[in-house]
Amino acid sequence: MNQLYIMIIAVFCTVDVVGQQAVALIPRPVQVQELQGSFELTGSTAIVAGRSEKELGEYLRDKLHSSTGYNLKVRAAEGETNHIVLQIDPGLTLPSEGYRLTVGKQGATITGKDRGGVFNGIQTLLQLLPPQVYADTLARGIAWKMPSVTITDYPRFRYRGMMLDVSRQFFDVPEVEQYIDWLSMHKINRFHWHLTDDQGWRIQIKHYPRLTSVGAWRGPKEQLPPAYGSGDKRYGGYYTQKQIRAVVRYAAQRNVEIIPEIDIPGHSRAVAVSYPQILCKPDTAFLEKGSRATANWDWRDPNVWCVGNEQNYKMLKVILKEVASFFPSKYIHIGGDEVNPYYWDHCTRCRALMKKEHMTNAMELQHYFMQRVEGILHSLGKRMAGWDEIMDGGKLDSTTAVYAWRSTAKASEAAMSHYPTVLMMGSYFYFDMAQSVNDRGHDWAGIVSLKKVYSFNPLENNLFPDASFHYVKGVQGALWSELLNKPPRFMEYQSYPRIAALAEIGWTPQGERNWGDFYTRLTHTHFERMKYMNIAFRVPPPEVWYRSGYVTVVPPYPGAEVRYTTDGSIPTVASPIYRDSIATRFPDSVQCRTFYSASLASIPLKPVRVAAGEWTMEPATGMTQQAWNINPVFDQAGSWDIAFTPDTLDNTFSVKQVELLENGITISSARLGNITKGSWRYRLVVPAYDATKQYTLRAEMQSSKASTGKVSMQRLPYLTPETGIIVNMPLMQHNALPLTDYDFSTTVSCMPNARAGDNLTFVFASPLVCKTITSVTGMPMLGLFPIQHGHLELSYDGTHFEYAVPYTDGTASVSPAHAVKAVRIVIDAPTDAPMMVIQDLRIE
Ligand code: ACM
Ligand code: ZN
Repeated sequence: MNQLYIMIIAVFCTVDVVGQQAVALIPRPVQVQELQGSFELTGSTAIVAGRSEKELGEYLRDKLHSSTGYNLKVRAAEGETNHIVLQIDPGLTLPSEGYRLTVGKQGATITGKDRGGVFNGIQTLLQLLPPQVYADTLARGIAWKMPSVTITDYPRFRYRGMMLDVSRQFFDVPEVEQYIDWLSMHKINRFHWHLTDDQGWRIQIKHYPRLTSVGAWRGPKEQLPPAYGSGDKRYGGYYTQKQIRAVVRYAAQRNVEIIPEIDIPGHSRAVAVSYPQILCKPDTAFLEKGSRATANWDWRDPNVWCVGNEQNYKMLKVILKEVASFFPSKYIHIGGDEVNPYYWDHCTRCRALMKKEHMTNAMELQHYFMQRVEGILHSLGKRMAGWDEIMDGGKLDSTTAVYAWRSTAKASEAAMSHYPTVLMMGSYFYFDMAQSVNDRGHDWAGIVSLKKVYSFNPLENNLFPDASFHYVKGVQGALWSELLNKPPRFMEYQSYPRIAALAEIGWTPQGERNWGDFYTRLTHTHFERMKYMNIAFRVPPPEVWYRSGYVTVVPPYPGAEVRYTTDGSIPTVASPIYRDSIATRFPDSVQCRTFYSASLASIPLKPVRVAAGEWTMEPATGMTQQAWNINPVFDQAGSWDIAFTPDTLDNTFSVKQVELLENGITISSARLGNITKGSWRYRLVVPAYDATKQYTLRAEMQSSKASTGKVSMQRLPYLTPETGIIVNMPLMQHNALPLTDYDFSTTVSCMPNARAGDNLTFVFASPLVCKTITSVTGMPMLGLFPIQHGHLELSYDGTHFEYAVPYTDGTASVSPAHAVKAVRIVIDAPTDAPMMVIQDLRIE
């Protein structure tokens, strides 16, 4: 092909891409027909709305006001030109919430099947305008043009939801309203408000004032112990009934229905500290001791309502009656998850009830409780919703909705049992999971990357056989807030763009969904909208590879601006832009970061070394040996992380035994790996390196399905001196060996807690010369449970210890003056958390 041809094709492609971008909408509409021409909104454009549409017209006027500066007239009569017409037409042959939108030279018309349909049409219309339309300050010099189109659109699922946990971290009314506003702009129509949990009760109940005067607060002097970053401070808050009503109204204006959740009978520690009589053993002395001294996840935690206490149902009826009176939704969510039956087993009332009702196990007690609560809700004119555990122990009413979170199997079970089912399986929809291996977040349900979320297809694998799909009401994401205490705006980072993917799963027909197309619309257009909405969304980091003396960057999307440093510092907006491979002998000092704007940037990443390393394996029952030449990436002795990442994670895949060979002779090996964040990981400590020798990595691997994947290597920039440990910390849970293996994913913990004066000493086998010694505490990746009050001491002779440095934010770092013999961690005061976690020393 000659040059001219290539140029013509390039120009053609560009035009085509621009053409697509004019209607790069999220969620993608069912049907879009692009036409010639456009309509320009001006200060004299009228919003034409009848009585039923007037409030929607005012909503649109207000949305357009701050960015355009226009104060458009909302009026009933239709003018000839220059208008946006809003109309509800119940006769429209579209599903509920569907709409038609036409834009021509004269203006735009949105015809909705119902109020929700017009609202959704307005969101599409806003997306047709320049992204600055979302700005909350005047955007000057913009031609407010929208392309001529005809759009016919309606949702795939009638339930498209998002859950926010306001118990573990509290979000005030403006924050909650902002969150709902963002959801509504993505055509999400349910907000599941997780209002109560062990760490705080957040809704005012007039009849039981202690629920909020006591149960909404945690801290050193409160009944609820500090948790999730609240430390020494009194922390908490709640919504008054007046505020709740205002939020319900605010959401309804945005086509969002709020489903409140009152989590019972478990997750009720905040109730238990306020009204101890709900417990199986209403012994306050015992409770005092139990609630302050034991951890949240401790199996003895007294956080469960007694099932055998008739008074409890009276109290629940009063609470739920108040709750039901503020929320117009048909459904009230009553939790039902993760109930610990420990106290039921030891309770005379619960045992008597079991005997009377001929029950043989705790699941039947739970089921009994659920049926009683179901009855209360029905008497209040409401229906019950709960987590999938409510299915255990017996059949509930057919109107009761099941929110399937534990597995796809639970989702199938719910739908096949003909319960209205909401899909929110953790492995796709729990946005408290980390978005990549390098991000902060949980990983018990796996890495929930944007692509993973988007890949969800409920029609796959015969998940809902026969007519059971009919019972799937829709999909919902969940943002549990344990980890949202830091860094600032992490709540937005965890929410977006994953909610954009969720929105499209909920809205767009499966056949119209395509990852590549979505990702292009997202990165080329929707990021810009979210920027003006003022969402601190996650900017995707680049891939950064090292091989044979060069660092190579793969930008996360075409045109992405990646900046880098070569001195180990975190790239800033002033760092150089990456344009070509970086030649370096020190890849560990390189860091790269995507900048979407000056204030929106990705996490920084260091290069990962590409091993010669990919594999393709046939299904096998036994072990297969694989080997890779690693000379292009292996260049130093020391500590190395080796990660085996299959292209599709499959639990039949495993890696046993990893070895590093020098000229064919094994010089380092490891047998114990662990699966973390989608990879099998091994750590090798390699004693020597000689540039003239041949290095090979060898692994024993197994997979009963065909498997492909990548092997990568990362050198840990830390020294690994031989170390012994002396423990003087009575509550330590394990032996101290995990602190000496320089595997930073293994830790030791103290539970309930370390006490003042407790200490732990690292003794080096020989005097250690190093630049810095850093002690990091808290759980790896999560940062939970650090040392809050403590310091490091150094010993140069092995006997005398001198004060070195206090812990700040769980970390203490010291630069020894000369060769050091031992380092001691000393606790100065107990940590205000139920547990404390120590990691291996990082020695540089
Ligand atoms: C849940 O994640 N415990 C519903
Ligand atoms: Zn009981």
